[in-house]
Amino acid sequence: MTKSFYITTPIYYPSGKLHIGSAYTTIACDVLARYKRMMNYDTFYLTGLDEHGQKIQSKAEEVGITPQAYVDDMAVGVKELWKLLDISYDKFIRTTDDYHEEVVAQVFERLLEKGDIYLGEYQGWYSVSDEEFFTESQLAEVYRDDEGNVIGGVAPSGHEVELVSEESYFFKLSKYADQLVAFYKANPDFISPNIRMNEMLKNFIEPGLEDLAVSRTTFTWGVQVPSNPKHVVYVWIDALLNYATALGYGQSDSANFDKFWLANTVTKSWTDDSGKTWDFTVNPEVNHMVGKDILRFHSIYWPIILMALELPLPNRLVAHGWFVMQDGKMSKSKGNVVYPEMLVERFGLDSLRYYLMRSLPVGSDGTFTPEDYVGRINYELANDLGNLLNRTVAMINKYFGGQIPDYKENVTDFDADLSDFVAENLKLYHQNMDAVDYPRALEAVWNIISRTNKYIDETAPWVLAKEDGDKEQLAAVMAHLAASLRVVAHLIQPFMMETSNAIMEQLGLGTDFDLEHLELSGLPSGVQVVAKGTPIFPRLEMEEEINYIKDQMNAGKPAAEKEWNPEDIELKSEKDEIKFETFDAVEIRVAEVKEVEKVEGSDKLLRFRLDAGDGEDRQILSGIAKFYPNEQELVGKKLQIVANLKPRKMMKKYVSQGMILSAEHDGKLTVLTVDGSVPNGSVIG
Ligand code: ME8
Ligand code: MG
Repeated sequence: MTKSFYITTPIYYPSGKLHIGSAYTTIACDVLARYKRMMNYDTFYLTGLDEHGQKIQSKAEEVGITPQAYVDDMAVGVKELWKLLDISYDKFIRTTDDYHEEVVAQVFERLLEKGDIYLGEYQGWYSVSDEEFFTESQLAEVYRDDEGNVIGGVAPSGHEVELVSEESYFFKLSKYADQLVAFYKANPDFISPNIRMNEMLKNFIEPGLEDLAVSRTTFTWGVQVPSNPKHVVYVWIDALLNYATALGYGQSDSANFDKFWLANTVTKSWTDDSGKTWDFTVNPEVNHMVGKDILRFHSIYWPIILMALELPLPNRLVAHGWFVMQDGKMSKSKGNVVYPEMLVERFGLDSLRYYLMRSLPVGSDGTFTPEDYVGRINYELANDLGNLLNRTVAMINKYFGGQIPDYKENVTDFDADLSDFVAENLKLYHQNMDAVDYPRALEAVWNIISRTNKYIDETAPWVLAKEDGDKEQLAAVMAHLAASLRVVAHLIQPFMMETSNAIMEQLGLGTDFDLEHLELSGLPSGVQVVAKGTPIFPRLEMEEEINYIKDQMNAGKPAAEKEWNPEDIELKSEKDEIKFETFDAVEIRVAEVKEVEKVEGSDKLLRFRLDAGDGEDRQILSGIAKFYPNEQELVGKKLQIVANLKPRKMMKKYVSQGMILSAEHDGKLTVLTVDGSVPNGSVIG
């Protein structure tokens, strides 16, 4: 019997650029797919796009193109992103693919014939952003008019809902409610983490499953119901079926469906209080990963659809939490959205994959911070892992001409302890990989790295290498270091392919991995390390890189809402920058105009008599005559003058004792005035 394994991501709405949230789920599934392949499972990894529905139709309308053109365009971008993130999917499904649409239509008709779907009238609240119906009591907030009638509201996701009142087909969820509860009992590990199963029971199932509206008539972007084409199939029914259609369900070539969905099933049973036994056919190797936001659809609607179609049920739903920001959910208007492209471009792919998988605890939310991001690269990747490799390669070159000595057990006093420790953490790693607890799986790897770094300190190879040292022990130490790094390279392979390959290559081990039979003692003999190791992660300038990430996050904000950061403003000045002292040498004072007259023989100059607080009046000539044809209007005004300008003679007979400040604009000059309450002679600065 071949071991098969099927893993799926949610199919994402292509309604905007994907951020690190969707990247998280996609990388998480990629890690699992790669791990299972390395464990010699025949693995099928599915991802794709959820392209129908009102939300997509509206987005396309906003842009002014057809929904098909819109999703075609978005699909290109999403595939590019998965390529950048080195996602090893086996199939990329789009719900606009013909084969999928055909099967969705077929399934709908079949359930209609069976009586599981019936025609009725729907009245309720719909959130287009979530593509989800709500009853009034499920709304997080309700708007009322003066008479107390509900006129709108907000879904738990924070999105506004609208009243929908239309003819609709309904799916008889109620018919399957008991069966669903029995399935949960028969397969208590169906939802991971476990506690979420209670949440589903308490919040949705125990209050009574209402029949679900499964068609819409108010827009057209979806799969038409063949027997009643004014209806399109509700986008969630359409979307959930992707997990089956992608494998060929309902199509002429259903080889993958046979292999990954129908083969290798087991029966899981539960006997209720009345003595009735419920049997369920479950495929232990069918796994869906989803964010907690859409667990309800996967844990309630999806099993019920499969029950109605009499198909085997999936084994496990892995529901993960969200990446949130210090100021809450990611949103463009907050300027806290992080896009994966930017991080990959700046820090490389492996850092991103490592950070995302290491820092989101299983089942709960995690906070993305630039500090944490840069910190983990420096401490865990560059320091812990990078240094271990560098030191090992350098020592094997120095002490053994680059040839890794043969691995022998228990030569130094520390070997047994290291080898036990590695074996223990190998076990821990596999357990946590099976539980899809990546932070703990990676912790097990970093335990090995730290323990190996400590082993260097314990064995002090530089002492063993001395004239009177112990060459045999030195050889054992080098072999253990290489063996340990070989183990580490295997374990991080599903997470960080490039780094893992680089470690293997620097150790001269090639990139054939055997994770299933991995042991410390499996180090091959006669291997030559590279002549000179290159650092796998550069050390980062913390401050600089943290600020870089912050700037990039802020750059995504709409212009009007950009955070004001004075340091980032490029000053626009016509003149060269001056020192403060230079400016401070200029004395500007308030001076009141006592008298003003045109200067004879000049059409530019006005002659002022001003009180600048000197005790005696000053005389200043100013070239503003053109702009003040009625110069007498200036009398009594308080102006700003440069008071310590060296006096100069003008028009041969007038001494000008300063300069009147004015602003130049639109080819004009306007004198700068000061509020009348400011005493003459006040110093401006
Ligand atoms: O719900 N942190 O699509 P969607 C972690 N089309 N994961 C996040 C995240 C965050 N901040 N934000 C999003 C849909 N995700 C439906 C699915 S499946 C048959 C149909 C991830 O584009 C997480 O996996 O809204 C979540 O469940 C998914 O993106 C929602 O993607
Ligand atoms: Mg969503």
